[in-house]
Amino acid sequence: MSDRLIIFDTTLRDGEQSPGASMTKDEKVRIAKGLERMRVDVIEAGFPIASPGDFEAVQAVARAIKDSTVCGLARALDKDIERAGEALKDANSGRIHTFIATSPIHMKMKLRMEPDQVVEQAVKAVKLARKFTDNVEFSPEDAGRSEPDFLCRVLEAVIEAGAGTLNIPDTVGYNLPAQFGALIHTLRERIPNSDKAVFSVHCHNDLGLAVANSLSAVMNGARQVECTINGLGERAGNAALEEIVMAVKTRRDVFNCNVDHLDTTQIMANSRLVSGITGFAVQPNKAIVGANAFAHESGIHQDGVLKSRETYEIMRAQDVGWSTNRMVLGKHSGRNAFRTRLQELGVEFATEEELNDTFARFKELADKKHEIYDDDLQALVTESSQEAANERVRLVALRVCSETGERPNADLTLWVDGEELSATAGGGGPVDASFRAIESIINSECELQLYSVNNITSGTDAQGEVTVRLEKGGRIANGQGADTDIVIASAKAYINALNKMMGDSSRPHPQTGKL
Ligand code: KIV
Ligand code: ZN
Repeated sequence: MSDRLIIFDTTLRDGEQSPGASMTKDEKVRIAKGLERMRVDVIEAGFPIASPGDFEAVQAVARAIKDSTVCGLARALDKDIERAGEALKDANSGRIHTFIATSPIHMKMKLRMEPDQVVEQAVKAVKLARKFTDNVEFSPEDAGRSEPDFLCRVLEAVIEAGAGTLNIPDTVGYNLPAQFGALIHTLRERIPNSDKAVFSVHCHNDLGLAVANSLSAVMNGARQVECTINGLGERAGNAALEEIVMAVKTRRDVFNCNVDHLDTTQIMANSRLVSGITGFAVQPNKAIVGANAFAHESGIHQDGVLKSRETYEIMRAQDVGWSTNRMVLGKHSGRNAFRTRLQELGVEFATEEELNDTFARFKELADKKHEIYDDDLQALVTESSQEAANERVRLVALRVCSETGERPNADLTLWVDGEELSATAGGGGPVDASFRAIESIINSECELQLYSVNNITSGTDAQGEVTVRLEKGGRIANGQGADTDIVIASAKAYINALNKMMGDSSRPHPQTGKL
C-alpha cells in the first residue's frame, strides 16, 4: 500500500455548493493555481453538465493547471460523462469522477431505482468514462448510510469496469469515527479485487466529525482524502484540507502514510484567497488558519512559549505560512514590481487594461497605506475581477457625515447601467445610511442577511474587508469590498452582492438529480 496520502481538493466543486459561495471562472483559476502551488494532487474543478459557466470553468482550470490532476464531476449518466470528458480534453492529467447513490433511502426516494439497476448504471458509467480517460473515480453516494453488502457488490463491479479510485462519501455527515473507519476496513477486506483501487473518503461535517472520520478512514487504509480549504462545502461543509494535512504531518508517529509532497507553507495564502473570494470569513479560533490559532493569551502560556516553543505549540506557525505575508510594495513601487509580485502569487492579467486598472487601484491604496502586504494585493485583485465580471452597478462617490448627537447622513452617486444616479439618505449609523442610499436608487428588495468586517492586515491603517450577504426569493449572494475606510468598503461590498444577485449565477445542484 502506498505511503503517500493523496490530497483531493474539492473547494471548487463541493465548496462552491455552499449557499452564496459561487465563484467566477477567473476566480476558480486563481484558486486552482494556489492549490497547484501547494502541490495538491487532484483538483476537482466543478460539475461540467451543470451550466455553460461550470463547463467553461472546468475547461479553463484544465488548461491552466499542469502539475495537479484536474477532475470533473458527473452523475452516472452518459450526457454528464460526455460533457466532463469534453471539459477535461485539454488537461495534462484529467480525471472523471462519476457517482450514483447506493443507500436504500436515496435509491428508493430519489432515484426510484432497484439495486440491480444501480449496479448496472454504475458499471456502464465507469466504462463510458474510461473511453475519455484512464483515470476514473467512482463514488457510491450516501455510502455512510448504505448496506455494506450492497456497497461491496457495487464496488467490486466498478473496479472490474475500470475505476481506479473508489471514493466512499459520508454524504450527510452521519457517521462516527470508529464506525466509518471500520467501514473502510470491511470494504478493503471483503471486496476481492480491492487491491486494484485506491480507497478515498469524502466526509461532510454535519456532526462536526468530517476531519475525525476522514482520519479514522486513513488509519484503516484510505489513501485519498477529499477535502476543502477552510472546510467550505455543502451545509456544514467538508473536511478541512488544512486540518487533515497538518494532522497527518504533525502526528506522523501514528499514521503510516505521509503528506511530504505538499508545500504546507502555502496553506495560509490559500485560506485567505478562498475566504476573500467567497466571502466566507474564517472564525478566529479555527484550527490552523484562524487568527488565534497560534496566538497565546494567558500569561502562563506566553511565558512557556518564550522559554521553549514546544511547551504549548505542536506545530510551527511558519510551516503553514503564517509568517509569509511579506510587506512587498509601497508608494514608490513601479508597474513591473507590481506585476512580478502578483505573478509570484499566481495572478496573471488577461489584458494590459486589467493590469493598468489594478495598478491604479494599488497606487490609490499606497497613498493611504504605507505598507502593502500580499493580502492587500489579493484583495485588490479580487475586487478588480469581481467588478470586471459584474458591472451593472458601480460606486462613483460616497460622502458620509457622522457627528455626535446627529443622525448620520450619506450622499452617494452610483453608476447604474451606464447612467449616473445620486441619492441622499439618513440611517442609524454611517453604514446603514450608505446602504439606504444605495437602496433608494436600486430598490432591490433584497434582505440583508449578514454584515461582517475583518481587517486584512494589522494596524489602524489596515484595509477593512467587508462581507455582505443578501437574500431575495431564496437566492443568496455574497459580496466583498475592501478599503482603508470601512464605510466605503461596506458600500462596495453591498454593491458587489447586488451585482451578483442581478447577474444570473444560478446553477443546479449536482446531487438533486434535476437539471
Ligand atoms: O457528498 C457527496 O456524496 C458528494 C459526492 C458527489 C461525492 O459530494
Ligand atoms: Zn459532498
